[in-house]
Amino acid sequence: MFSKTNAVIAVTALLAVSCVTALPRCDRDDEECRDRNMHPDLPVIPQKFQRALDGENTNEYWRNIGQEFINNKLKTAPNKNQAKNVIMFLGDGMGLTTIAAARNLLGGEEQNLSFNKFPYTGLAKTYAVDKIVPDSACTSTAYLSGVKAQEGTLGVNGNVDMGDCQAGTDRSNWVYSIAKWAQDAGKSTGVVTTTRITHASPGGVYAHIAHRDWENDQEVIVDCGTESGVEDIAYQLIKGEIGSKLDFVMGGGKHHFIDSSLYENGRRKDGLNLVDEYKKQSAKNLYIETRDELMNTDLLDYERVFGLYQDDHMLYHLETNETTNQPTLEEMTRKAIEFLSKNENGYFIFIEGGRIDLAHHQNMARIALDETVELSKAVEAAKELTNEEDTLIVVTADHSHAFSYNGYPYRGKDVFDRTPGNPDDKIPYMTLSYANGPSFEKSFNSKNGQRIDPTTVITGDKYDQYPSAMPLEDETHGGDDVAVYANGPWSHLFSGVYEQNTIPHIMGYASCLGNGLKMCSRL
Ligand SMILES: *[C@@H]1O[C@H](CO)[C@@H](O)[C@H](O)[C@H]1NC(C)=O
Ligand SMILES: *[C@@H]1O[C@H](CO)[C@@H](O)[C@H](O)[C@H]1NC(C)=O
Ligand SMILES: [Zn+2]
Repeated sequence: MFSKTNAVIAVTALLAVSCVTALPRCDRDDEECRDRNMHPDLPVIPQKFQRALDGENTNEYWRNIGQEFINNKLKTAPNKNQAKNVIMFLGDGMGLTTIAAARNLLGGEEQNLSFNKFPYTGLAKTYAVDKIVPDSACTSTAYLSGVKAQEGTLGVNGNVDMGDCQAGTDRSNWVYSIAKWAQDAGKSTGVVTTTRITHASPGGVYAHIAHRDWENDQEVIVDCGTESGVEDIAYQLIKGEIGSKLDFVMGGGKHHFIDSSLYENGRRKDGLNLVDEYKKQSAKNLYIETRDELMNTDLLDYERVFGLYQDDHMLYHLETNETTNQPTLEEMTRKAIEFLSKNENGYFIFIEGGRIDLAHHQNMARIALDETVELSKAVEAAKELTNEEDTLIVVTADHSHAFSYNGYPYRGKDVFDRTPGNPDDKIPYMTLSYANGPSFEKSFNSKNGQRIDPTTVITGDKYDQYPSAMPLEDETHGGDDVAVYANGPWSHLFSGVYEQNTIPHIMGYASCLGNGLKMCSRL
């Protein structure tokens, strides 16, 4: 195995050969020259560091991997049981470049994120009714309610334009998530996220609203006035038809639930304390705000659990320590599954690693990849705590990002480092970069337009911003297909390339819920 010591020596060795000359420019019609530049001969690093793993230079090594894969496939018979439980994991903004690059954090390219080992995968097309590259709200409607819609809207169909106060309250435009299908069938339901619980992805579980930003009453009033009848997202979580029946709810976003006169960070203006309302609904409703409370309370003494760990989004995993008293996504996942498993009818839960996306929007690749590994750990825990005979686990993303992973880095090298070669301007470039985003000002000199050497800006800090080619306050989403990984009953149906809104129909079919009920003729 490639060891840490080797890594240090390899990096040192690379520094020694990093004075790479730029490739010669080719004449436009000299195709052979252009071909050489497309796949350049990079400076050779010392022989023993060229390969990350022993044996990779033999035929046997690779043939064995192929044989093992086929053997495993031959042993896997399609699981046609009815799914009692469905667990859907979402990596917000977790495109394929993010997944591939995150393996490096596990020790190397040959490693697998937990869900990479799932037996069936597919690809989902993410475009919205009105946009080629979608946001997290309309995609949430698609992968939870089974209907594509317009950007920025939640739990409503494509008739509703983003911000249309009237159309959004017209119930004939509402669509219902698989959480409601599960509730109607007597199953328990839950939603867990690392963002505000009122944010777009978790909002798709329980809200119907024409604008994802209407997370509290004040936001609604600004856009729709006081008489619109639009219920904000926090209100719908506590009082709405689906929200008021969710058994297990966890994330950040406390400030959207309480009036500013009752709580100094509160954002509401309607005098409500929705946390108190939740507690008053039943003595069996547990409300918590710290990791200690989550770990030390016997949750089974309660009928419902609601945790809000921050006023805003939860902290990035890399920002937490013993004093922050915030649970990890894996810890929340374990508690959720233990809690929901008490229902004999089973459960549906939506679990989101929501901050992969937010880190990418700031070009903070280290944090985005770390959050991806955190999601992988949560999926691993879910797999360990459940039985694949009766539990379908689906892992996917809502959309990709303008994130690039390139430049022929050497095996065994840190993906957060520079590439071995230099481009035409003779200034180093990084293995990870973005098409756009706020790091632009650290990427180009504003006086002469020259690229800034990224190795002088990127220092190994968790908040490092990786270079971007276009100035934008927030880096954008990407329009490429996202992967869908599935394990458990009917997971073989997730193979292929399909529209993103197909996902809940397959989950419903597997568990005989909602639309699936009609298709569930096998019963
Ligand atoms: C990753 O998965 C592949 C395919 O199943 C397997 O061949 C390989 O051994 C796995 N890698 C590690 C490090 O376990
Ligand atoms: C713990 O994390 C918080 C938030 O990231 C930070 O403000 C604080 O300084 C950290 N404390 C220690 C002891 O590292
Ligand atoms: Zn986003």
